[in-house]
Amino acid sequence: MKVTVVGAGAVGATTADNIARKELCTELVLLDIKEGLAEGKAQDMMQTAALLGFDTKIIGSTNDYSKTAGSNVVVITSGIPRKPGMTREDLIGTNAGIVKGVAENILKYSPDAIIIVISNPMDTMTYLALTATGLPKHRIIGMGGTLDSSRFKYQLSQHLGCSPADLNAVVVGGHGDTTMIPLIRYATWNSAPVTDFLSAEQQQQIVNDTMVGGATLTKLIGTSAWYAPGAAGAALVESIVRDQKKSFTCCVSLEGEYGQTDICLGVPVTIGKNGWEKMLDYQLNADEQAAFNKSADAVRSMNEVLKTL
Ligand code: LAC
Repeated sequence: MKVTVVGAGAVGATTADNIARKELCTELVLLDIKEGLAEGKAQDMMQTAALLGFDTKIIGSTNDYSKTAGSNVVVITSGIPRKPGMTREDLIGTNAGIVKGVAENILKYSPDAIIIVISNPMDTMTYLALTATGLPKHRIIGMGGTLDSSRFKYQLSQHLGCSPADLNAVVVGGHGDTTMIPLIRYATWNSAPVTDFLSAEQQQQIVNDTMVGGATLTKLIGTSAWYAPGAAGAALVESIVRDQKKSFTCCVSLEGEYGQTDICLGVPVTIGKNGWEKMLDYQLNADEQAAFNKSADAVRSMNEVLKTL
């Protein structure tokens, strides 16, 4: 099994670090456009192998895509991250060209790869990867909802005083501060609805804090987060390479499901050796469906910007 991570910035390197620690592949390529960055980080990670006890071989490459040849899974993290005060959408002009070029280069050497998109604005970058490459829809997976759902579980765990691992909770819709929809009505703590244990005020607080989870960290750190984004990327890689068929919220192509077409948006899917495999059809109530439609409108107008670039 071979995996490539494109972009050796904080998110890409953390994704790679998690993949290596879990030995999800025998060969892991880390590629970046910046001279020496990927080689340096790959070597630094390889120097943890003796301490952590993993056998995955990590290879760094400065923009030499031939090294990525034959990858089963490719994670795209390239592009600029947001700075405090910026939305993910502010990045579109710069990141669209980068992501399109990366996807094309990757497919030259790994025509059968499953592609995971992390670059922001993630919903639009996923749509771009799908439309620019013409790949079958099951092979293009946007990561956002996986991260947002993990952040949702964190917020719930803080209020419930429980382990995040005992929670089931999903965020659907877009990966934007105003477009994501934490589905608290569906969230459970060891199978019991979390709404049984939380006041209406607490529920609203949890939803609000989840939605601005990324922006809160960007303000604190000065750039966008990487530990949870990297762990989320690696969790998707794991479910693919081990064919776990775990369910995650991922940004995928909708063809009428959830009332939407010609768009990539976050919905619950299973992830296995074929990419995203099954879509779970949640019965959204009228308010949730209205929020989902509003989210789709916002993402669709962002996708329109692609035509002007
Ligand atoms: C975040 C970025 C990775 O939400 O979108 O932290």
